[in-house]
Parts: sequence; structure tokens; C-alpha cells
Amino acid sequence: MRWSDTDTTKDSRFNRKKITVVGAGNVGATAAFLAATKELANIVLIDVVEGIPQGKALDMRGSSPILRFDASVIGTNDYADTANSDLVIITAGIARKPGMSRNDLLSINASIIADVTRNIVKHSPNCIILVVTNPLDAMVYTALRVSGFPKHRVIGMAGVLDSARMRLFIAEELGVSINNVTAFVLGGHGDTMVPLPRYSTVAGIPVSELLSEECMQAISDRTADGGAEVVRLLKTGSAFYAPAASVVQMAEAIIKDNKRILPCCAYLEGEYGMDGYYLGVPCKLGAGGLEAIIELDLTEDENRALHRSMEAVADLVESVDKLGLY
Ligand code: NAI
Ligand code: 2OP
Repeated sequence: MRWSDTDTTKDSRFNRKKITVVGAGNVGATAAFLAATKELANIVLIDVVEGIPQGKALDMRGSSPILRFDASVIGTNDYADTANSDLVIITAGIARKPGMSRNDLLSINASIIADVTRNIVKHSPNCIILVVTNPLDAMVYTALRVSGFPKHRVIGMAGVLDSARMRLFIAEELGVSINNVTAFVLGGHGDTMVPLPRYSTVAGIPVSELLSEECMQAISDRTADGGAEVVRLLKTGSAFYAPAASVVQMAEAIIKDNKRILPCCAYLEGEYGMDGYYLGVPCKLGAGGLEAIIELDLTEDENRALHRSMEAVADLVESVDKLGLY
């Protein structure tokens, strides 16, 4: 038998969109793997550590005949390989260790984000950036400022994760399928996040009709502590399965132009009475990135909590501004 291929380029087996994942650690590698198994795009996994992205990418490709996905996954330390990505997920940085707050990560991760963003912009000037690195609300702000991209192309992931945790805790409390539970967590990705029981439902039934106020308060508190609870158990790092699944859900909505409504960390210019900060709010995600911000009618208490959350984010942003990175 003779086979004459017209295109012998190694990576051209699959003519798909391209997603770069920066940081081949726990969140990045898991996100790359999930995106590949869903055949969302061809994946490039990049890290500063030599061998890690290459080894993990090869391992993922090794699973493709079993899991039956046709998407290329390459690992690299060279940003030239990321050129012309449609979407870039940034997970590079240091993760939380026990006793560390997300804010402790601020200055080291801000420098990493600035460096990564400059490289991404150089090689993929038209991409959409999803930031995962903590402290999230300040890191996505850093990426916006360094990239010079419009706000609809620089989005942060936190609300999908925090809302997923809240949905899980409601489903477990009631002994029902997570498929029946919706929940919204707004605000910054920190202790001041704002779980919204009023917008949480079980098969369309307001959760207030099914759970007592005390029970719902306990679920909201556990949600706000959700990341720290995992850190206390793991001892050597922070959560990654749920964070990776969360950012891949956002990536999927953009790559497939799904117009999904998801809580995202978005740059606010007047919405919710806030200006010039990133905060978790309900958004529409599609091919254009962040295509709309939805303004909910909040009660006085909810509004107060959201503004308290914004003040915490503003403190972080002030610290990042002082680093002189942009
Ligand atoms: P990890 O330590 O497993 O992985 C981080 C990776 O980034 C490492 O492989 C490291 O070599 C790489 N890295 C460091 N500097 C880099 C650079 N300049 N360029 C490219 N790669 C670089 O950490 P993990 O668990 O994957 O977490 C990553 C980040 O995501 C942390 O900041 C963590 O706090 C944050 N996170 C945020 C969540 C959210 O809801 N927004 C949820 C979970 C984690
Ligand atoms: C989380 O919520 C560490 O921010 C990360 O799990």
C-alpha cells in the first residue's frame, strides 16, 4: 500500500481551533486534558519548567486511543508554539499552601501574569484570555492592563467554581441530583464572595422553600470557605479538578459560541454601581468572549455585601498598581 500525504506537518492532523494553557501544574494540566477529551480545540500546554508540559502532553495523547479523542496536545516551553491561539487559559503561578491566603500570592503571581500576558499578546494578538491564577480579581485586572485588550477579551474564572460548590452542597443537603440545582455566587473570589440563596433553585423551586435560613447560611458559609476546606485537606496545594472543569466550561461556551449565562469575573464600568474593577457577576459568554453583563436587582443587604466584596478587590488592585508592572 502507498499513502501520499499532501501535508506532512506534524501538528496538522486536526484542523481545529487552538487553545493554549499556560501553566502545566494541577489546574492547567487538568484543564488541558478535559478540553482535549471534549475535542474543544488543539491544545498547547506551556510552562517554564522543561519537560513537564512535554511529558504531560505526551501522556494525554497516549490516552486518546482509549478515550477516543482526536485533538492534538503538545507541550512546550516556547511561546512561538502558542502562536495564533483562539483562547488562552492562564493558570501559571504559585498555588495556595496551608496558612496562606489568596492575597499572600499577590506580588509573585502578578509578576508572572505580567510576563505571561506580554508573551501571549505578542504571539496571539486576537485571542481571548481566561485567567485562573489567584488572587483572581487582581490577576485578571493585571492581564487586562498589561495586554491592552478590550475588556470582553479578558475574563476571570471564579464564579463558576464557587457556584458549582454551592450547587453541590445544596444537592447533597437535599439528596437530589446536581442537575436540578442552580445557584449564583457573585463578588470577588475570596472570603467576601456573595452567595445568593435568593437566586438559587431546585427544579425551579426557590431554595428558600426547601431549606431553612440557618441551613442556607451554613451552605453559603461553606461555599465561601470551599477553597480553603480543600487546602486544609490536601496540605500541599489547592483544588484543581473543579477549577479546571470550571474554566473549561467557560472555554467551551466561547469556542462553541454557546451564549451561556455564567458567573464570571468581568471588568465593570458602571454596572452594579462599580467602576474600574473586576468582580464576579452574571455574564453571557460566546464567540466574542464576554458578550453581556446581566444586572440583577439586588436587595439592600445583597448590594451591601457586593460592595464590601468590591472594597476587598480594590485593596488588592491598589497593591498591584503599586508594583509598577504596566
Ligand atoms: P501548580 O503549582 O500546580 O501549577 C502552577 C504552574 O505554573 C507550575 O507548573 C509552574 O511551573 C507554572 N509556572 C510558574 N511560573 C510560570 C510562568 N512564568 N510561565 C509559565 N508557567 C509558570 O498550581 P495550580 O494548583 O495549578 O494553581 C494555579 C493557580 O490557579 C494558582 O494561583 C491557584 O491559586 C489558582 N487557582 C485559582 C482558582 C480560581 O478559582 N480562580 C481555583 C484554583 C486555583
Ligand atoms: C479555590 O477556590 C484555591 O481559589 C482556589 O479552590
